[in-house]
Amino acid sequence: MNIKTIQTDVLIIGSGGAGSRAAIEVDKKGLKAIIVSKGLSFRSGCTGMAEGGYNAVFKSVDKQDSIEAHIHDTLKGGSYLNNKKLVETLVNESPKRLIDLENYGALFDRQESGEIDQRPFGGQSYRRTCYQGDRTGAELLNALKEEIIKRNIECLEEIMITSLITDNEQVIGATGINLKDTTLIYFKAKAVILATGGAGQLYPVTSNTFQKNGDGYAIAYKAGAKLIDMEQIQFHPTGMVAPESKKGVLVTEAVRAEGGKLLNNKGERFMSKYAPEKMELATRDVVARSIYQEIIEGRGSENGGVYLDISHLDDDYIDEKLETMVLQFKNVGIDIKHEAIEVAPTAHHFMGGIKINTDASTSLKNLFAAGEVCGGVHGANRLGGNALADTQVFGKIAGENASKICENTEIKTNNEQVKKEAERIKSLIKKGTIKPKDFKNNIKSLMWEKVAIVRQEKTLNEALAKLQEMQKDLANLDVKNTKQYNTELITALEVTNMIEICILIVKSAILRRESRGAHYRSDFPESTDEWKKSIVINKNKIEFEAR
Ligand code: FUM
Repeated sequence: MNIKTIQTDVLIIGSGGAGSRAAIEVDKKGLKAIIVSKGLSFRSGCTGMAEGGYNAVFKSVDKQDSIEAHIHDTLKGGSYLNNKKLVETLVNESPKRLIDLENYGALFDRQESGEIDQRPFGGQSYRRTCYQGDRTGAELLNALKEEIIKRNIECLEEIMITSLITDNEQVIGATGINLKDTTLIYFKAKAVILATGGAGQLYPVTSNTFQKNGDGYAIAYKAGAKLIDMEQIQFHPTGMVAPESKKGVLVTEAVRAEGGKLLNNKGERFMSKYAPEKMELATRDVVARSIYQEIIEGRGSENGGVYLDISHLDDDYIDEKLETMVLQFKNVGIDIKHEAIEVAPTAHHFMGGIKINTDASTSLKNLFAAGEVCGGVHGANRLGGNALADTQVFGKIAGENASKICENTEIKTNNEQVKKEAERIKSLIKKGTIKPKDFKNNIKSLMWEKVAIVRQEKTLNEALAKLQEMQKDLANLDVKNTKQYNTELITALEVTNMIEICILIVKSAILRRESRGAHYRSDFPESTDEWKKSIVINKNKIEFEAR
């Protein structure tokens, strides 16, 4: 296998909101940053797809809002599983990071007065979600991209990072496969920042991009890093249900924020039964479960969802606030201004992930992490609008602290580990009996059937047994030896990661014998004081962290 070496001060894995923000910070310090992404630069992350907004306390609409209220809402929304220090950092820094974005050129919608506008999102005491129509993430990412181009930061694309290279628990680089020609690249770096996002692609119905298979969790875990709260997976209440090709595509929370009503097939506004006060703007775990309940009790829509209706609002208002939604549905022949749309839950966000400290450091020396790949910030359920803020707050912190560490770090080499990784990858290329693509679909179906919105001991145990069996089947994958875009090889690498992560998710879900936030156990439907703690896993042990 051809091995090419590239050296940098800080290697940033992921070109979404967190990775891009981290790179800017490294560059500001006069150090060399390289951003590597699995897809096309700035196109493989989910930041660009987060439509509805960015939470920050500006009090420009509701004067009573406060930092304390934002902290309170985030902790309550997370069912108090969040790491409070991380929440405080998020909330305190979020407004400053939004100003940075405006300095990079992002435009947020304004009120007549010129003050920033803020809309209500789920689980908020006050209106605090800043936005640009329903394209907030795209606006934010475009501004970051402009800044990166201006700074001439090197971006390498279509490279899948396959492992972290270590030297005595210190991360000293990474290996990546160049999708274009299957060359192995050995990245040597003083510090590495993981910003690879989540793993919505563990499910067949997801709002996430293709690349989100959980590679970041897997490579960090294999290198020895601690992961936290892996059982906590958010299903966004509203994804598209039809046509089949669009299943799971996000229908932004902004639709409900602007007044959209959820209805069942009897025309009942059913949220009045489940969350009479907050109604459609209850937290996502509550709304997703309520929709699920309506569907399984036979009150769903014709294509297996429920209805979301915004048609009572003025056409012009809908055009202004929900332009993306208007187009998204127009493309499939639906006019949201005059008819209800069908929606159902879609795998959206991983609250769990790599355990970080407030300086974005991880349990491995010289490894930092930011954005959705991290766990602890959002507890058992993330509030809509807190993810974009998270990418900017912890992206900056990761860039800053990775740069600091470079001052006293020399580049190190571990050719032995790189050779072993090359051999592992080469060993996947062989005649086998299972197509990697089929294997991937089997994982997704299993997770959807047994480890989704409602869980129970019996089906979780069945899932674990099946996953362990499938882990053995990895030896039977059929992978051709082609050089250009060897999708079979890439899928084989992905499913190896996916199985590892699914096993961690299921083990954590079995352990947590209660319901909390997004983790709902029908056999243990209540939250308990005993379980006010996070599950922390690494290769050698399982620990608990009290909240
Ligand atoms: O619904 C949305 O627009 C998604 C936003 C988020 O996940 O924060």
